[in-house]
Amino acid sequence: MRINRLVAATAGLGLALTLAACGGQGAGGVDDAPGGDSADADPSDQTIGVAMPTQTSERWIADGEAVKSQLEEKGYTVDLQFANDDIPTQSQQIDQMITQGVDLLIIASIDGTALSSQLESAAAKDIPVIAYDRLINGSDHVEFYVTFDNYNVGVQQATSLLVGLGFLEEDGTEAADAPTSPQNIEVFAGSPDDNNAGFFFDGAMETLAPYLEDGRIVVPSGQTDFDTVATLRWSQEAAQTRMEDLLTSTYSGGEELDGVLSPFDGISRGVITALQGAGHGPSLEEGLPIVSGQDAEIASVSLIDQGVQFATIFKDTRKLASQAVTAATSFLEGDEPEANDTETYDNGVKIVPSYLLESDIVYKENISELLIDSGYYTQEQVDTGQ
Ligand code: GAL
Repeated sequence: MRINRLVAATAGLGLALTLAACGGQGAGGVDDAPGGDSADADPSDQTIGVAMPTQTSERWIADGEAVKSQLEEKGYTVDLQFANDDIPTQSQQIDQMITQGVDLLIIASIDGTALSSQLESAAAKDIPVIAYDRLINGSDHVEFYVTFDNYNVGVQQATSLLVGLGFLEEDGTEAADAPTSPQNIEVFAGSPDDNNAGFFFDGAMETLAPYLEDGRIVVPSGQTDFDTVATLRWSQEAAQTRMEDLLTSTYSGGEELDGVLSPFDGISRGVITALQGAGHGPSLEEGLPIVSGQDAEIASVSLIDQGVQFATIFKDTRKLASQAVTAATSFLEGDEPEANDTETYDNGVKIVPSYLLESDIVYKENISELLIDSGYYTQEQVDTGQ
């Protein structure tokens, strides 16, 4: 994945020049826009297939609902499907959407490399495909990608860990009273078949690198390479098991564990359960290690509010849904959506024009400002964790 990013950066330069030459209208230009045939169609005659990975994580339910309701507000018909994190189920759902004649597909893939044949069929029927939050790899037929600045999400995850460990202030400046003894951490990464996992990991590890190099931070298990620390399907249970194993293998002699880099709230909760089960905490005040996260899932926001999980990253799914809807509308009107990044996301076949959104670090102190004032959650939801 690291290689992909480097290749992307170089290849992206060529693409940026090509784009500049054709007026910056996005790849291809208006006449070549897939789905252009339907330029004059009435939204009420058009159906959009929305394929989401799973309902086991609350964020994807929110994404699915936000995309569906925003498309319906514009008059489109929506076929929304969730795939239980099962690759054949997702392939089948997309096949069916294509057979039923959808006009456009919005896909958050389970395995970013598993959908080539579906994308071939979509292309044969001139159905544009928008990759939603997760890039679809190995196919020419991904027209657009809406996501967050995933590398920066990783930077933010590591930053929150450094804040929790006392090296940085919440505003990112060096803390005056930084720890003078080495801090022990363990690291977790996301699912190896999800393109985002490598970006999060690279952003986080490059942020931690200076601390690891000079010994201010140590990983006592020695497990720091992506393949070793990855968590298939972002599974909470798998994360809990790995944390339990680490506690047994590395910390049973009384070694301190100060923090855990976690790339997703589900993983964070698995890690926290393992830590509490082994007698850590149960809260930060009582010595629970600092655990980072991602997605601002309500169960984790509630734990942050209670002083258990230290931080998460808020990616506003309403904004992501809205970008997906904007891109979909452009295609269906025979246009090309506007990209703000044409360099970073190489899917192995091409650089996919992307629209990247910004994310925020959530700490206990800014839950109200970021999540309640913006109407993302109510105070009651934060209080109850539901
Ligand atoms: C990633 C996504 C993260 C998180 C994770 C697990 O693709 O970017 O925000 O949701 O999947 O679902």
